[in-house]
Amino acid sequence: MPYVTNSGLTVRPLSNALGAEISGIDITGDISQEQVDAIRSIWNQYHIILFRGVKWTPEEQIAFSRRFGPLDPHDATPFSRDEKHKELLVVTNRERNGKPSESRNTGRNWHSDYAYTGQPSAASMLYSVEMPEAGGDTMFCNMAAAYDDLSDKMKDIVGDLHSVYDFSLVAGLAQRTPEYVQEQLRLNPPVAHPTVRVHPDSGTKALYVSERASHFDGMTRAESLPLIEYLCAHATRPENVYRHSWLPGDMVCWDNRTTMHVALADFDPKEPRHMLRTTLQGEKSGYLVPGVLGAA
Ligand code: OGA
Ligand code: MN
Repeated sequence: MPYVTNSGLTVRPLSNALGAEISGIDITGDISQEQVDAIRSIWNQYHIILFRGVKWTPEEQIAFSRRFGPLDPHDATPFSRDEKHKELLVVTNRERNGKPSESRNTGRNWHSDYAYTGQPSAASMLYSVEMPEAGGDTMFCNMAAAYDDLSDKMKDIVGDLHSVYDFSLVAGLAQRTPEYVQEQLRLNPPVAHPTVRVHPDSGTKALYVSERASHFDGMTRAESLPLIEYLCAHATRPENVYRHSWLPGDMVCWDNRTTMHVALADFDPKEPRHMLRTTLQGEKSGYLVPGVLGAA
């Protein structure tokens, strides 16, 4: 059931697992600090928030996003950022400069944004400009619930592990240009992060592992993979997932510290799908793992 908060925002949960639509506010206009705080507290509670019917310019999207923290200049993925605004990542299958877009198959396996860097994103805010007639959905899962649902013994085990992220495990690289892949691997050498992270605002513990983790530091890939696969399967059980069917004008904001997401190839690739993303910079985390490249 939708409810109205003290600050006058209407909140409608999107699934039992995570996600809430916020209405009763025009985010394209001036919003007060009190409203920013109210949105942040709903966001911390539901991990994903949705605003519908948004119409704005890139500058307005950037200004709104910046109210929630410093924005990432997307140095880890320079191919996909907007030429005029480095705070804007263009997730599109429209041609760019007369060539197929390198971001046309972004996010095709479960992940948290920029986990393969030393500064994983705190949050991402994706605005839908143009969507295919059917499909083009994104699924999200709740990594705080995934952690809570583990046994105490498994919590101890994963709490001791660092996951090594390897850019070569990003899905869909075979369809991108060799120059893109080579440059992305150069920019993003393998990095290890704690497999359990504590959310800096809420103190919530969340599982932090994904289909882009190659192994646990100090363990072989053969030893690690069964546990990585188990944790991903556990986290992405249908009852722990919200599946978003986009309308143009949707702004979906997800917390990368407490969720994973995957972009589905469930649409006709001849139809345009065009989105603009801003990214809230996270804390520096992890350490580089030398000598581990190109996990099989
Ligand atoms: C992203 C991403 C999801 C989508 O922008 O980080 O994974 O559905 N995109 O396009
Ligand atoms: Mn993503």
